[in-house]
Amino acid sequence: MFTRTTITLSRAAFTANVNNINAVTGHKSLALVVKSNAYGHGMFQMAQMGQEHEGVSWLCIVGIEEALCLRKQGITMPLLVLSFLDGSIDEAIYHDIHLSVSSYEEALAVAAAAQRVGKKAYVHIKLDTGMGRMGFLPDQVGELHKINKLSGIELYGIRTHLSDTGHADHSYSRKQLAEFDRVIDEAQSIGIQFTCTHVQSSSSLDLKPERDYSFVRVGASAFGLWKSEEQRLLLTSRYPGFDLRPVLEWRAKVVQLKQVPMGSYIGYKRTFKTTKPTRLAIAPIGYWDGFAYSQSNRGVALINNHQVSVVGIVSMNITAFDVTDVPEVKVGDELVLLGNAPSILPHEVAKRAGCITNEVTTLLESSMERTAVDDHQLLLVNNARFIEKQHVV
Ligand SMILES: Cc1ncc(COP(=O)(O)O)c(C=O)c1O
Repeated sequence: MFTRTTITLSRAAFTANVNNINAVTGHKSLALVVKSNAYGHGMFQMAQMGQEHEGVSWLCIVGIEEALCLRKQGITMPLLVLSFLDGSIDEAIYHDIHLSVSSYEEALAVAAAAQRVGKKAYVHIKLDTGMGRMGFLPDQVGELHKINKLSGIELYGIRTHLSDTGHADHSYSRKQLAEFDRVIDEAQSIGIQFTCTHVQSSSSLDLKPERDYSFVRVGASAFGLWKSEEQRLLLTSRYPGFDLRPVLEWRAKVVQLKQVPMGSYIGYKRTFKTTKPTRLAIAPIGYWDGFAYSQSNRGVALINNHQVSVVGIVSMNITAFDVTDVPEVKVGDELVLLGNAPSILPHEVAKRAGCITNEVTTLLESSMERTAVDDHQLLLVNNARFIEKQHVV
C-alpha cells in the first residue's frame, strides 16, 4: 500500500522531556495536558505514554467527552477535566474523573449527579486570577463556602492559569499568584483544605513560586514544543542542561519529480516563477493535512540531509518543493516536515508560518495515523545541524 505521509511519536523524546521538566520543578510527577488530540500528537497515544511514565500522575483534558473517550480506551490513571462539563456528568463521576467547576451552578449540577450515581464527585475550583476567561473571581470565596456544603462533592483541588508568561517579566504572574494564595488562605480560614493546588504550565516553568504547589500542568513542553526562541533561551539559560526534543516527526513521500524550465509558474495564482531550470519534488500534503497555507513560498523541509523550500502556494493536498540542489532525490524519498532539526522545529515553523507553536501540531489532521516508536532517526547536533542516526535505540 502506498502511504503518503507518516507521523511518528518518540517515546525517548517524551521520557526525556518529562524527566527534564520534573527536574526543574523539583516534583516527582506532573499533570500531562492531552486535550485537543494532545495538540495534534494523538490523545490516546500520548495518554498511553503518560500512563507508562512514572513521572506523570495526572492527565488533563478539556471536557468530559475527551475524558470518557480515554476511559473507554483503557486509560485508568487520574483524569482532570480542565474546562467543560460537556458530556454526562453522571458517567464522569462513575469513572472517578475529576471535574473543574467555574460557577456555583456547575457545582450544583455536579452535586445532583453525585446523588444520582451514589458516588462522591471530586471537584477542582477554577479560579480566574487575571486570565479573564472562565472561573470564579478571587472575591467569590463565599461561593466556595456554599459549594463545600453541598453533599456529594469533595472540594479536592484549586487551580488558576497564568496569562502573561514565556518571558522574563513575571510581574503580572506574581500578582496572579498572590491572588491565588490569598484565596487558598481565605478558604482555609473557613475550613476548606484543598488536597491539591496547581498553577504552572509550560511557559511558566522558569517561575519559582513562593509556595510549593502540588504539580505543574504541562502539554507543550512534554511534547517537546518551545513556545518561542525567547522561551527556549530563557529556560536553557536559567536551567543549564535543560532541553526539549520534539516528540512528533512528520514525513511525506515524494510522489513525483519533474524538471521545469526557467520562467515556469508553480502552483495556484502564479505566485512563483522559476528563475532557473528547476527540479520540483511534489509532496502529497497540503493544508488539509495541516501544512499551513501560510507556508506558501516560505516553508521548508529536509530531504536526504538537505534543506529544501516550498515553491508556490500550498494547496489542499499538494505542495511543491525545489530540489534542484539535491539531484539524488528519487520518487518515494521522504521529506521531513516537522522534527528534531533546527529549521523544522515546530517553533521555527510557526515563526515562518506566522502562527503560534501549538497551532503547528494541533492543526495536523486527526485522521492521520500516529505511531509510537522508541525513537526518531533525526538527531539535533550542536543545535545547528542534523545527522542521520546510525542506530535506532
Ligand atoms: C488550564 C490549562 N492548564 C495547562 C495548560 C497547558 O499549557 P502548556 O501546553 O503551555 O503547558 C493549558 C493549555 O492550554 C490549559 O488550558
